Amino acid sequence: MRIVQLNNAATTPPFERKVREVQEFLGWYGALHRGAGPRARATVEAVERAVRRIRSFIGQPEDNALLFTANTSAAINALARLLPLDADDMVLTSEIEPTANNLPWRYNTPARVLDVRANDTGALDLDHLDHLFAEHRGRVALLAVTGALLFVDAAQLAPHRRIDMASAGVDALAFSAHKVYAPFGLGVLSLPRTVLDRRPVDPGGGSIDMIADTGSVVWAPPAERHQTGTWNATGILGLGASCATILDAGWDLLEGVERDLVARTASALSDIPGVRLTVPAASYRADDRIGTFPFVVDGLHHALVAAAPRTVASGPSTTRTTSATLMSLAGMPSRYPPSTPPALAGRRPGQRALVVVTAACYLAGYLALLALTLCGSAGGSRVDVLGWLAAALLGAGNGAFPLSVTLVGLRTSRAETTAAVSGLAQSGGYLLAVSGPLLVGVLHQPSGGWRVPLAALLATLLPQLIAGLRSARPGTVEAPDPAGDPR
Ligand SMILES: Cc1ncc(COP(=O)(O)O)c(C=O)c1O
Repeated sequence: MRIVQLNNAATTPPFERKVREVQEFLGWYGALHRGAGPRARATVEAVERAVRRIRSFIGQPEDNALLFTANTSAAINALARLLPLDADDMVLTSEIEPTANNLPWRYNTPARVLDVRANDTGALDLDHLDHLFAEHRGRVALLAVTGALLFVDAAQLAPHRRIDMASAGVDALAFSAHKVYAPFGLGVLSLPRTVLDRRPVDPGGGSIDMIADTGSVVWAPPAERHQTGTWNATGILGLGASCATILDAGWDLLEGVERDLVARTASALSDIPGVRLTVPAASYRADDRIGTFPFVVDGLHHALVAAAPRTVASGPSTTRTTSATLMSLAGMPSRYPPSTPPALAGRRPGQRALVVVTAACYLAGYLALLALTLCGSAGGSRVDVLGWLAAALLGAGNGAFPLSVTLVGLRTSRAETTAAVSGLAQSGGYLLAVSGPLLVGVLHQPSGGWRVPLAALLATLLPQLIAGLRSARPGTVEAPDPAGDPR
């Protein structure tokens, strides 16, 4: 089953090629900034290349520095503690911000924090922003207004849109690697170097150039003194590789594909009864929104909605139960008189038609299963219909067993021959019944799918059909009955 991950807003799966790149680098990993050997030099080079890629990914202004943190929350907290804000300053954030871009301003600065309202479409209410700015003119220390610093929490934007801090006039920006296909535990904070020209808030390894005899400290250059301790080299490499992959693919292509997906998803979601989009579907196209879809499923707690994919993932077992029931039901008519194969076979002069019908049921059942594997999980209701059809046909085909037992009786006239043929048929039948599932498993595992085992099962139909038709020929397997009973 193919699982489509729709929760990229929380975290993204890693680009496979980039995971391999990081793994290959690990063979060369050495002390970053703490050694001079070949591994240390290789590590410094690789990390510096990655840092250049990250800088160009966000179009970082020349006079900004990059700080690496654990994630976006840590980056915003670091910025809050680094900015020289006081109780007279004002930080404007908004009521649509996540806690990561709200709590740090409230609890790690003495500034007053005000929330800009959101409008009906879930976007920032720009009139309210203007109003707050006008009301507190001169005291707003942080947001998108002249005279104040503009900080952007780009955790959700970075995977969706080209970011160019320099041309957009963004002063500081934070985002997380795990939301841009590099889940290697890294946050990024880009901020003006001038903000860093102060004592580090978390001093430690790497933050000083030297300690004088007098005990006074000579701090490392601003951009380095705040990056305390050993860097997360793997995180930086993974993120650098992700940024390069995205830039190589090209934003024009990515944004174009996403716009198309967003429009289709918005209208598909709004067509589902009981699903309510928080943002009206029309505004996804009109406002050029990124592909995040806040929605509510009527009467269902969001945790249950989130757990639904697990139900889908465990779908095959539900299908197995349904299929087993259907197979038993489809096989029912052949277990009860007057439609049992023995009863039918006994009433007819020849039994070839019955052999052909049961073989045809198997043939059609296996072909339905094969079609099911070709449809994949994307087949929707077609998958259900094919599954039910396959179960019903194979259930009906199960009449082959009682039919073959009946043929044993019909094709023999003496007790000792009946016993001998029955013994042969039963031992052959049970051998197949025991080894068949094993064989299917042996073929399924290495091929990793159902097509090879199904092809093998289809191939077994021909010898079975030939044997069945031969067994259904009129007469007995013994020497002609002296009484002339043709059966
Ligand atoms: C807009 C935004 N900012 C910040 C965060 C927090 O990111 P992290 O978990 O990397 O701290 C998130 C996480 O969902 C987010 O969506």
